[in-house]
Amino acid sequence: MCGIFGYTGKKEAMDILTNGLAQLEYRGYDSAGICMVNDDHNLYIIKAVGRVMELKNKTNWIKLTWYTTGIGHTRWATHGSVTENNCHPHTSSDARFAVVHNGIIENHSELKMILEDQGYVFYSETDTEVVVKLFEYLFNGDNLRALRKLTSVIEWAYALVFIDREKPSMLFGAKLGSPLVIGKNKENAWYVSSDYKSLIGLVDEYITLEDGDIFCIENGECKIINRWVEFIRDKEHIIETEQIMELWDFPHFMLKEIYEQGQVLRNVFAGRIDFKTKTINNITLNEVVTQGFERVHIIASGTSYHAGCLGRQYLENLANLPTEVSVSTEFKYGTQFIDKKTLYIFVSQSGETADSLESMKVVKEKWGYTFGIINVPGSSIARLAHAWLFTHAGTEVWVASSKAFTAQIATFLILALAFGQKRNLENTKFISILTDMEKLPARIEKLLQTSDQIRLIAEKYAPYLNFFYLGRSYELPIAMEGSLKLKELTYRHSEAYSSGELKHGPLALIDANFPSIIVNGSWPLYSKNLSSVQEIKSRGGKVIGVIADNDVNKNLYDDFLIFESSLRETEVFSETVILQLFAYHMADVLGRDIDKPRNLAKSVTVE
Ligand code: F6R
Repeated sequence: MCGIFGYTGKKEAMDILTNGLAQLEYRGYDSAGICMVNDDHNLYIIKAVGRVMELKNKTNWIKLTWYTTGIGHTRWATHGSVTENNCHPHTSSDARFAVVHNGIIENHSELKMILEDQGYVFYSETDTEVVVKLFEYLFNGDNLRALRKLTSVIEWAYALVFIDREKPSMLFGAKLGSPLVIGKNKENAWYVSSDYKSLIGLVDEYITLEDGDIFCIENGECKIINRWVEFIRDKEHIIETEQIMELWDFPHFMLKEIYEQGQVLRNVFAGRIDFKTKTINNITLNEVVTQGFERVHIIASGTSYHAGCLGRQYLENLANLPTEVSVSTEFKYGTQFIDKKTLYIFVSQSGETADSLESMKVVKEKWGYTFGIINVPGSSIARLAHAWLFTHAGTEVWVASSKAFTAQIATFLILALAFGQKRNLENTKFISILTDMEKLPARIEKLLQTSDQIRLIAEKYAPYLNFFYLGRSYELPIAMEGSLKLKELTYRHSEAYSSGELKHGPLALIDANFPSIIVNGSWPLYSKNLSSVQEIKSRGGKVIGVIADNDVNKNLYDDFLIFESSLRETEVFSETVILQLFAYHMADVLGRDIDKPRNLAKSVTVE
């Protein structure tokens, strides 16, 4: 969601900025723009609605010289429609300053009225234009002083990066709430970005700005105030050289990430489970399970919330820990009952989701113990949590989450088993689950080989516009996640329900044009789910079963997608992969932009 990329160095900035923005495309956006400054004190702005490629096409015929400092932005519209006028960078009235912004300035309407009273005229509908005009109003010759004043007036959230026509080698800005990193290379070129991953290969070291930081890079030096720290090499911040942006032979990153899930599971288990001795051993886990928590409250959004719903099932069934799950978008605005006996778990792939981050701050303010299940080391949630477990899914490049979900539910399973061991989980059960978990990565890799069969069923159902996703108990969160994947990737309407709930209302929608997908492995509610299948069939509805290979009732279903039967705790992984592939193939058949679904952003950094 909104990406910022800035550069100052000795090279022409234009290609560097557009290439940098291309690295941030995964965050989701609807328009893009860049602004550069040269030694003759000229500002040059190029904007385009649509993809970064369209921006690049516009730059192809432009020849610039000595524009060696600049800022770029991918915009995900919040204030004002998707037009070039609203696209960043935005400029001051005298076109001296230009700014890019990620976040929302909540008091922009009041500030705009004050500025209008002072005679300022606005050309866009954005809160960002208010920021740059306010900066202009506050400016009295000292950029940092004006920035300080600005940040004491605007109400967050923001990551802001400015350039100044009169100081062509200067980049300056501030961060509160939205992420921002600054990197530098041996040639003394400086980069600013919303995501350190976009700096891989460009810089040798980087620093993640903290909330409240104000920075100024000028003539090859960087100053970060609030703390006035020197920019020193910090081992934690040495960029890894992982090759995350390679598609290899896959047509889409989404498919590549689905196929990585066997290895992701190995990564999640490594260092936590010793399959030889059948033990769980990890310092963080040992610490958290010995603190005497009596309850758990899981808080997350979207896919991570669905992982939390399965986490609840694991924690209640295996560890006998009463567990509540809240969507973070609601949690902060409800009445929170925070106590010391509850473990507050925040699940987030990006570690930057504003709703989850804000909810975490509320829990911390009330002295609750916060625990992160996160995929991005150094992310805001990771830095704020009392303790955390990394999900080791590797970078999820494109918008819809797949391998991060698998890594999250695997992490929850390990957490529940670790708690279970301390809280009377039968050892035979513990051992049997661990034994089966060891086989899981290979099982998932074998299942992925059935992708073509899943595609045939997806092709058959692609013309349908509405779907139910059904499941119960452990399988309800899997149905919920499968339904979300279908919505995101195919733009088809789907709703997830407990199959038991169907008869309480939704059944009214069933007819021959409204198929249902039921997730029905070989476990306790199998027969109850079969009754739901019968209810649908007797009303003329079609049913696709996501079922185990030993299911003796296959002929009940119009179509079925099969996985190897295993334990209740592990079948959910196979079911997840089947539903991901089903959504992926249907989207491909329908010709959707799979890696960049419309209207969506990868990292949702506004509330
Ligand atoms: C769906 C998806 C989103 C995210 C949600 C929370 O495919 O990716 O629903 O799960 O925006 O994001 P994180 O996990 O980064 O907090």
